[in-house]
Amino acid sequence: MRISVIGCGYLGAVHAAAMAKLGHDVVGVDVDPVKLAALRRGEAPFFEPGLPELLLEAGATGRLTFTDDISAVRGAKLHFIAVGTPQRQGANSADLRFVDAAFDQLIPHLSAGDVVAGKSTVPVGTAARLAEKMAASGSDAALAWNPEFLREGFAVKDSLTPDRLVFGLPPEPAAASLAQAALREAYATALDDATPLVVTDYATAELVKVSANAFLATKISFINAMSEIAEATGADVTQLADAIGFDGRIGRRFLGAGVGFGGGCLPKDIRAFMARAEELGRGESVAFLKEVDAINMRRRHKVVEHVVDLLDHEPYGKTVAVLGLAFKPHSDDVRDSPALDVAVRLKGLGANVRATDPEAIENARALHPQLDYHASFEETVTGADVVVLVTEWDQYRYLDPEAVAPLVAARNVVDGRNSYDPARWRAAGWTYRGLGRP
Ligand code: UDX
Repeated sequence: MRISVIGCGYLGAVHAAAMAKLGHDVVGVDVDPVKLAALRRGEAPFFEPGLPELLLEAGATGRLTFTDDISAVRGAKLHFIAVGTPQRQGANSADLRFVDAAFDQLIPHLSAGDVVAGKSTVPVGTAARLAEKMAASGSDAALAWNPEFLREGFAVKDSLTPDRLVFGLPPEPAAASLAQAALREAYATALDDATPLVVTDYATAELVKVSANAFLATKISFINAMSEIAEATGADVTQLADAIGFDGRIGRRFLGAGVGFGGGCLPKDIRAFMARAEELGRGESVAFLKEVDAINMRRRHKVVEHVVDLLDHEPYGKTVAVLGLAFKPHSDDVRDSPALDVAVRLKGLGANVRATDPEAIENARALHPQLDYHASFEETVTGADVVVLVTEWDQYRYLDPEAVAPLVAARNVVDGRNSYDPARWRAAGWTYRGLGRP
């Protein structure tokens, strides 16, 4: 099937390459010449495990091309919209300007019988509005909403073998069957493998995505709230998470208490959801997300507090080694990263912050050039008064406290991801501080 993908960022680039690998003939369209040049060379413009291999493999078949010329979408039967929907500046709501621009550019090139499938995360009601826009322009194409659930770091696997598919179809039966047929053809491999499929309307499809992210954010903030209670009582939140996680109805995943969630999705999606619910007159239904957000932000503050406490409340001029900058391991993404936020806050208190990350230093530097970045772990920790783990990359997670001890000026560690065994670090002479752990 001939497919176009508009927007080649974290979502679109992986989706385009995955679709080509699955046998389709794909053209990816983006406005950024640097990104396009990298993709054409088979190089990923951002760090995503497995993506360079996938790009090379798909590129070698001749079925994957990238261009900035929107007219190249002509001849494709299915057009995926995969542009970003960031948080609007100075507001909680989503900024839809890239989605609208993508539709405005695409519409003149659509033919009768074409299907447009939105993958971007949008406020509920957006698909209906865009369908009206398409109809008003005289286009006969059908619009579907097909949310994407891929996780950064596992995007290749999630795109090739998704855990579920959601098709939000238009109300008109003819358009709905046209859209469904095109999506079934695009995802034939996954559907043949019995991947669960939910066929629904626009509003449900849009809400599936934001409610999934709201649920995940709530789960993390729930355990981080328990962390705060644990801190007031001397309990251990990691044991608590293990114990409640054995209940199959609860489950242990996403009960990792620590510095909290960040990234390009969870924070902005829960905020956009609150803003949209307010517009719908249902603000109270998701008012709890404000607490979810607040709990999450408090955890960053707690990490900083531990560091300051270990520095006898005199952070000025002290050296703090920050391990990790990306919002999570296996990613170079620093959007709304708790790790980078902690580093910047400590710098603001006058500490000499040395930060390291295996993949995210360049992205962090572009946003915060004032930090002292080191590619080498040894350089980062040498002479440190406190070591802070904020992104649990394996190379930091499995540190040997005995081996690190001779490098630092003082054996103080703040474990922002509850990744270390406190007994082992204490036995090696360290003062250990976790989150929600005695
Ligand atoms: C998320 C959703 O998981 C994905 O389905 C959606 O398509 C996009 O948003 P992603 O942003 O890649 O994906 O990251 P995810 O793995 O969900 O982690 C989000 C944040 O939560 C990270 O900062 C991570 O460190 C944090 N987290 C996760 C915790 O603090 N504790 C946990 O137990 C799990």
